Amino acid sequence: MIKVANLTKRFKTVTAVEDISFNIGESEIFAFLGPNGAGKTTTIRMLSTLISPTSGQVTIDGKNPADDGDYIRSIIGLLTETPGMYEKISAYDNLDYYASFYDIPAQRRRHNIEKYLKMFDLWKRKDDPAGTYSKGMKQKLALSRALVHEPRILFLDEPTAGLDPESAHMVRQFIDSLKHENTTVFLSTHNLEEASGLSDRVCIIKKKIIRIASLAELQGSSKSKRMEIVFSDGASKFLTLLEKIKQVSSVEIRDNRAFLVVDEPHQSNPFIIRSLVEKGADILYVNEIKASLEEIYLGLIKDEETR
Ligand SMILES: Nc1ncnc2c1ncn2[C@@H]1O[C@H](COP(=O)(O)OP(=O)(O)O)[C@@H](O)[C@H]1O
Ligand SMILES: [Mg+2]
Repeated sequence: MIKVANLTKRFKTVTAVEDISFNIGESEIFAFLGPNGAGKTTTIRMLSTLISPTSGQVTIDGKNPADDGDYIRSIIGLLTETPGMYEKISAYDNLDYYASFYDIPAQRRRHNIEKYLKMFDLWKRKDDPAGTYSKGMKQKLALSRALVHEPRILFLDEPTAGLDPESAHMVRQFIDSLKHENTTVFLSTHNLEEASGLSDRVCIIKKKIIRIASLAELQGSSKSKRMEIVFSDGASKFLTLLEKIKQVSSVEIRDNRAFLVVDEPHQSNPFIIRSLVEKGADILYVNEIKASLEEIYLGLIKDEETR
């Protein structure tokens, strides 16, 4: 649905995005995760035809923004970082005005406006000027605006940034519900939980692409793994033994547990466990401790910086 090949954007002195490539399938929820200034907004602006790339190709539903910008704009919905509304006119009329630019029958338009205003709990306030809305309400109104013409691709630029927890939750739940629809979602965020919880794949970006993978792939990819061994009683008597094993790169003992970082666990774990048993250890459990996305993310960003 979205194809990006060797895309670069340079502003006068800064390269915002450098040589990025990825493909996003139909109905996929793709999270674009990176710190401030990583190039997320710049990428969304290129994909949604607002700015043109310095070099590289963008293809949206088989079409190229330079030749078929109107077509692309008709099938996408965009929630920008700082969405503006006509503050003096009502929420309803804001949506109605915006939707009137698209080729959808009036009845369907009214149906959609009502559907989204109700979904986001704004229906009772539909006649109030948008300027009287709180930040969370404005964001939900902006999201309704991005959806009202039934886009097949939705670009969301940090949709929950600055929202109170309740509104953020509602927005996330809504994005999650899109999994059952035919909408392709490009979600930019610096929120790790959001990226991992909502998306099929996470693309970690910092000007260049650092990694594209599902959360499971990210968690499975590290060569060294953390694990815990639970003994029937005190683990400290096995400390020396564990420290001597060369595949064990770190050991920490807490009560009847040993926490280890092990290189190549598939090869080394049987040996480690056998060695313990031979020394009389009663092992109750051996558990893998999965790295959180946060640990993986910080690790990847750090690797990139020290490269
Ligand atoms: N219009 C612009 N002119 C000059 N520099 C820009 C412009 N837009 C973005 N940048 C720069 O490009 C980089 C990436 O910005 P941006 O895409 O907004 O990052 P993000 O959305 O990930 O926080 C930043 O260094 C930013 O200052
Ligand atoms: Mg941004």
